[in-house]
Amino acid sequence: MSSPASRRTRVAILISGRGSNMMSLIEAAAHPDYPAEIVTVISNRPEAHGLARAQAANIPARAIDHKAYADRASFDAALDAALGAEKVDIVCLAGFMRLLTPEFTQKWFGRMINIHPALLPSFKGLHTHERALEAGVKIHGCTVHFVTPEMDVGPIIMQAAVPVADDDTPDSLGARVLAQEHVIYPAALRLVCEGRARIEGGRVAIDEFGLVNRALVAPHA
Ligand code: GRF
Repeated sequence: MSSPASRRTRVAILISGRGSNMMSLIEAAAHPDYPAEIVTVISNRPEAHGLARAQAANIPARAIDHKAYADRASFDAALDAALGAEKVDIVCLAGFMRLLTPEFTQKWFGRMINIHPALLPSFKGLHTHERALEAGVKIHGCTVHFVTPEMDVGPIIMQAAVPVADDDTPDSLGARVLAQEHVIYPAALRLVCEGRARIEGGRVAIDEFGLVNRALVAPHA
């Protein structure tokens, strides 16, 4: 989604909780050469800690409480109206713990991205770090992808991998993954805003992708 120099891409961030990924996007967008500006943060949970963090960073932030709506369709309609009022170009889901209707995801297809704490297509859904440890994988990670109606399935834009240690707990592994989430989410949003992440046949082609000939091997041989 390339934008003229005079108008940076207008991004909304949807959250439900603490908002650490949201903060990584806000901090990236604070740099004048970043191609996006964060125009609004919306939480479906009024008590989400991320709302206060966004406000402290001078980003307009508000709750649209899903409990105030009779069904998913009416909540999504309110969300869509709020995004339209802010002339939002791109939506970033950042720990947004609410399923969206197919109508909403189809309307925003190609313009809505999500961060997931696993190397998709492995470990879709919740409790990814527990399940990675149970499965005994030696490499785990995170994924930024375009959102489609089916959860955690959309075209993959960027991934980062981390090693799994024998003595990892879900918390220690989750912290290692989260540090990488904060790196790849702003980088992936940049690619999307610059029009360099093109969806082609269910996959994402990245323009000017410099392939680094380097592998993460775990355990270290
Ligand atoms: C992150 O692990 C993200 O990948 C997942 O939910 C978590 C949100 O954390 N979708 P935060 O609110 O960004 O700190």
